[in-house]
Amino acid sequence: MTGTATPTIDVHLTADDLRAALENDVRVGLTAEAKWLPPVWFYDDRGSALFDEITRLEEYYPTRAERALLEAHAAEIAARSGADTLVELGSGTSDKSRVLLDAFLAAGSLRRYVPLDVSDGTLWTAANELVREYPGLEVHAVVGDFDRHIGLIPSEGRRMVAFLGSTIGNFYPEHRRRFLFDLDCTMAHGDSFLLGTDLIKDEKKLIAAYDDAAGVTAEFNRNVLHVLNRELHADFRPERFQHVALWNEEEHRIEMRLRSLEDQRVPIADLDLEVSFPVGEDLLTEISTKFTREGVEAELFEAGFIVDAMWEAPEGEFLLTLATPYC
Ligand code: AVJ
Repeated sequence: MTGTATPTIDVHLTADDLRAALENDVRVGLTAEAKWLPPVWFYDDRGSALFDEITRLEEYYPTRAERALLEAHAAEIAARSGADTLVELGSGTSDKSRVLLDAFLAAGSLRRYVPLDVSDGTLWTAANELVREYPGLEVHAVVGDFDRHIGLIPSEGRRMVAFLGSTIGNFYPEHRRRFLFDLDCTMAHGDSFLLGTDLIKDEKKLIAAYDDAAGVTAEFNRNVLHVLNRELHADFRPERFQHVALWNEEEHRIEMRLRSLEDQRVPIADLDLEVSFPVGEDLLTEISTKFTREGVEAELFEAGFIVDAMWEAPEGEFLLTLATPYC
C-alpha cells in the first residue's frame, strides 16, 4: 500500500446536463397522454437510501439471489472471462463489485476496475475507497449515463462488462435492443458481458417484492415526487398518490404507478407548467421486466452475443449470464 494511489475520474455528465435531462423528462412525461417518468429520478440521496432498504426487505429477493450467485460463481466467471479489466455499468457504491473484484484478483489477472455511474459523489467516494482497499488496482471511474456514454468507456485491456441488479429490466424492449447492440459495437474480440436479470415467477411473489408490507417501496415510489418538488419547485402532495405495483402478464413486467387519490392540479414552477391529475389517473414511474433464460439468450444473440454460461438461483429466482461478442 503506497498511500498515494488516486483514481482517475472522467466526467461525461455535468450537473447542467442532468438538470436539462430532468426538465426534459418531466415535461415530456407529464404532458403525455399516458403520464410517465423514467426511474432514474428516484435516486437522490433519500431515494438511494430507500432502495438500499428495499434490497434488505424479506420480500425483495433479487439482490440477495444475485449476490449468492456471484459469491458461488465469481471464480468461474473470472476464469471464463479471462479479463484484466472489470467494467461495471451503474456501479453505485460498488458493493457487489467487491465480490467480483476479489475473485478476479484471486485469479491473478485483474489490473483495472472501471465503474460507471451518473452520480459523481457516489463514484468519487467508491473509487477512493477501492484504491485504498485494493493496492495496485487501477481505478478509472467514469461519470456518465450507461445509456449514452458506453462508447466513451476506456477500452484498454481485455474487458468484462458487468450490468447487474436486473437494471436492464427498466428498459422497454426496443431500448434493450439498442442498448445491447451499442454495447456489442464497443466490444472487442475476447471481451465479455456479465448480465444479471430477474426471472418470471409466481405473480404473488413478484408483486410482494414491489409492494412490501412495511411500505418501503411505496415511499421509494413517492420519492420521485419529493425530487420534483425540490428540484423543479413543483407542488406535489405525495400523500395524495397511492403506490400501485401490478403485474403486466402480456409484457411480463412489474409496473409501478402512482395513482391520484383525488382530482388535483399540480404546479411545476420551474417549467411554467400545471399538470392535472383526475382521480384514479396513473403516473407510470417504473417498469421492471422479468425474463426467461431463452428470452435472455435470444435477445443477446440478436444483438451479436453468444451465451457462454448461465447460472440460475434456486427456485428460478434470478439469472446471471456470461456472453461474448461473436464477431
Ligand atoms: C434497481 C431497477 C433493478 O426493478 O427491481 C426495486 C428497482 N424498484 N423496487 C427493480 C426497484 C422497486 C429495481 N432495479
